[in-house]
Amino acid sequence: MTVRTRIAGDRDDRWWRTAVIYQVYVRSFADADGDGIGDLAGVRAKLPYLAGLGVDALWFNPWYASPMADAGYDVADYRRIDPAFGTLAEAEALITEAHELGLKIIVDVVPNHVSDQHAWFKEALEAGPGSAARELFWFRPGRGEDGELPPNDWRSEFGGPAWTRVPDGEWYLHLFAAEQPDLHWNNAKVREELESVLRFWFDRGVDGVRIDSATMPAKDPALPSFGPTHAQSAPPTPHPFVDRDEVHGIYRAWRTVADSYDEPRALIGEVWLADPHRFAAYLRPDEMHAAFNFDYLNCPWDAQRLRSVVDATLAAHAPVGAPATWVLSNHDVTRHVTRYGRADTAMGRSPAQHGAPTDLALGTRRARAALLLNLALPGSCYLYQGEELGLWEVDEIPDEARQDPFFFRSGGADIGRDGCRVPLPWSGGRPPFGFSPDGAQAAPWLPQPDAWSALTVEALDADPASVLGLYRRALAARRAEPALQGEEFAWLGEPEVTGVLNFRRGEGFRCLVNLSAQDIPLPEGESALLASGPLEGEGEGEGRGVALPPDTAVWLRG
Ligand code: NOJ
Repeated sequence: MTVRTRIAGDRDDRWWRTAVIYQVYVRSFADADGDGIGDLAGVRAKLPYLAGLGVDALWFNPWYASPMADAGYDVADYRRIDPAFGTLAEAEALITEAHELGLKIIVDVVPNHVSDQHAWFKEALEAGPGSAARELFWFRPGRGEDGELPPNDWRSEFGGPAWTRVPDGEWYLHLFAAEQPDLHWNNAKVREELESVLRFWFDRGVDGVRIDSATMPAKDPALPSFGPTHAQSAPPTPHPFVDRDEVHGIYRAWRTVADSYDEPRALIGEVWLADPHRFAAYLRPDEMHAAFNFDYLNCPWDAQRLRSVVDATLAAHAPVGAPATWVLSNHDVTRHVTRYGRADTAMGRSPAQHGAPTDLALGTRRARAALLLNLALPGSCYLYQGEELGLWEVDEIPDEARQDPFFFRSGGADIGRDGCRVPLPWSGGRPPFGFSPDGAQAAPWLPQPDAWSALTVEALDADPASVLGLYRRALAARRAEPALQGEEFAWLGEPEVTGVLNFRRGEGFRCLVNLSAQDIPLPEGESALLASGPLEGEGEGEGRGVALPPDTAVWLRG
């Protein structure tokens, strides 16, 4: 195992431009105390595993004190760690230990809303209508004779109305669950508090933040209804709460905070926007450093479509000088092994596809090829925990075990995101697969499939051909390859003709991904550095051509 030790004084202010960032969903990563819930002690014990995998940074989903109405995205206190996960002292130790292993740390910050158990919201409820405490949120009287109707027709992202009524008759806005009241960003106190939260974590050595629902904090103060002519999918323009121009002021102020550190901190945005220009505006030099590429995540497994998304991504990022990002899975979407094994490979989150026939062997083959594609494209890459084991989406979770507000607020019509959040399998032949210690008093918070016995770290560890072996080799090769640290990129060949993605990075490095149904002969005189699966004709002696089979990728040097 190669572990990079950080040398004192060694600094790289631009690490976020090419970093491979591994997403740690703490609740499902490793449970050290046996309560069936992952925790910081579990993560600390596995830091050598993560460093050995070869990633550069870890992004933690919210680890703050929270009633967990939305898995921690309902923050009750941004300066405390949820007791189920551990303590602030443990978080500080984790940051130090990760740094010693050469791993950067990114924490999630949620600016749009807090928990209904946050001190501010509790105070607002007590203080009543017209109080300064209510000004920090969006409290309004209702419509109708007795105010019995919500102030407007906005819908929650999780389904149902975006307003909930409190006992004194006022309503408050929540674009997500009712337990997640939206903050009122026109209020200086809100701005100051969130900037102070940034400093709190930056002062503890955190290297960057992932900004949750980053397009949503600014609202049209008139709170206009969409009206009968506007569906949620065809909103009025400008949108009353998505991507309003005012939102950029928040991130410009945050950039000033991030840049005030000796080693500047990175801002990484969750920016779901269809318009590439509006998207890129968040990446201007005085705003965020990077944002997740959801167009790529939602792109079907199709050479031409992927090539268009890559082109559009690079074209959108170039004018603002920001690095592109490549991401296929996270805690909100169906795992890509499953997506790529279905007839319809598009759309990260598609509840309608729940239970669709899935060829997991095909999905795994494509996911392996996709890894070599992601890691060869210019920019930074995000990996979601468990993808290095080839984990698939777990469909068969009993209703009573489900936890996602999507499920509850849709009355079960939307199956929600629990299927990609199932605890990791580490070792052994049956659940909890080493996720919890032997003799744990509780089962994992979501049930693991028995078939994951073949996908534990222990089972894959020694086999270089396993998914885990491929991730390790690919990450090491990426780090060792100077062409992949640069920005040079050029397509070779036409995908519409061949169904193949074929591109060059720098001098002599080439990546080929075969999305066609036929074998593709590999050019003579170039040697395969790494392939996502077996090549045809390999090792069959001189004079025999080598071919790239369907749904396979290769890195070549020549
Ligand atoms: C985006 C997060 O990724 C998701 O998990 C969460 O439910 C919403 N934002 C609300 O915070």
